[in-house]
Amino acid sequence: MTREEEVRACTCNECDVSAAEESAESDFASPRAADDALHTPVMLTECIDLLAPALEAPGALLIDATVGMGGHTFAFLSHFPHLRVIGIDRDEQALALASERLSSFGERFEAVYATYDMIADVAARLGKNGKVDAILMDLGVSSLQLDEAERGFAYSHDAPLDMRMDTSSGITAAELLATEGAQEITRILQCYGEERFAQRIAQKIVAQREREPLTRTSQLVELVRKAIPAATRRTGGHPAKRTFQALRIAVNDELAVLERAIPEAMRVLRLGGRLAVESYHSLEDKIVKAAFVAGASSTAPEGLPFDVPGYEPEFQLLTRGALQAPPEERERNSRSASVRLRAIERIREEMSKA
Ligand SMILES: C[S@@+](CC[C@H](N)C(=O)[O-])C[C@H]1O[C@@H](n2cnc3c(N)ncnc32)[C@H](O)[C@@H]1O
Repeated sequence: MTREEEVRACTCNECDVSAAEESAESDFASPRAADDALHTPVMLTECIDLLAPALEAPGALLIDATVGMGGHTFAFLSHFPHLRVIGIDRDEQALALASERLSSFGERFEAVYATYDMIADVAARLGKNGKVDAILMDLGVSSLQLDEAERGFAYSHDAPLDMRMDTSSGITAAELLATEGAQEITRILQCYGEERFAQRIAQKIVAQREREPLTRTSQLVELVRKAIPAATRRTGGHPAKRTFQALRIAVNDELAVLERAIPEAMRVLRLGGRLAVESYHSLEDKIVKAAFVAGASSTAPEGLPFDVPGYEPEFQLLTRGALQAPPEERERNSRSASVRLRAIERIREEMSKA
């Protein structure tokens, strides 16, 4: 497999961005200049088309639960002249940049510093009787986070081993590697990075930290390089790719937060409201798919020979499987190569739990 084929085959987010970095630069080069990808929202036309039927009416409200640098939100606010957007992000730096970028929209945009599993609280405070018309989630790490060398997300820049999206709370990657045992580090690398050499890397981490603390991305890159057999190193893309992805997912507890967030997001949709989610990793997409399929299924006890009134599905799927970015977009924006876009619409009020 060529390097390009490998990148196309891999569903992880990190890989695509880093592939662009790798082709242009050697390791530990200076941060990539802000290019088009930094501001290019992924599958924008498809996101607008999928959510539009819920947003046409005056007074419509969209929650962009991963506002990032506001790329999608900017386009939505421009496209729907009466739309109001609440933009959530756990990264205060991103929120500040988005707020500045979107300031010309005045009160039509409001930034909220939170994790997206708090979406029901946000909707209760700022929504329409606790409900919203549409929600967009563009998961994972932003180009801003990858490009800011000091954040420690990219294996191609030497920086403190941090990787927190919210730099004000939680433990850093360095703290995680200093405190977890070899078994847990192996699990993280296997589950979140699908790293074949997880155990070898974990053992090396534990041995090395006895001698000196692992605090820099360059130390980790070097350690992983040594842990991976030379033959694999020559063919498997950047050796630290999977380790960095796995640590980032663990440090930010990404999958657990997502698992809580999707059902909450579905709950706050008004009748006819729509939710679109862009995933960049098969583990994220699996969570989204499972929640959507459950929502679009009858809740009647299994085995009944007829449809029980009141137990019909609350949602309908708006995409057949997951949509992928068209080839032209993949050519233009390497980030879009691994995206999977799914969307649903609420077609029945929430069934009373009483
Ligand atoms: C891919 S970027 C979004 C880019 C944005 N759609 C744009 O066009 O500029 C993902 C953003 O989601 C944020 N994020 C990731 N996990 C989050 C969570 N659990 N809660 C809130 N924000 C989160 C990240 O900090 C990042 O800014």
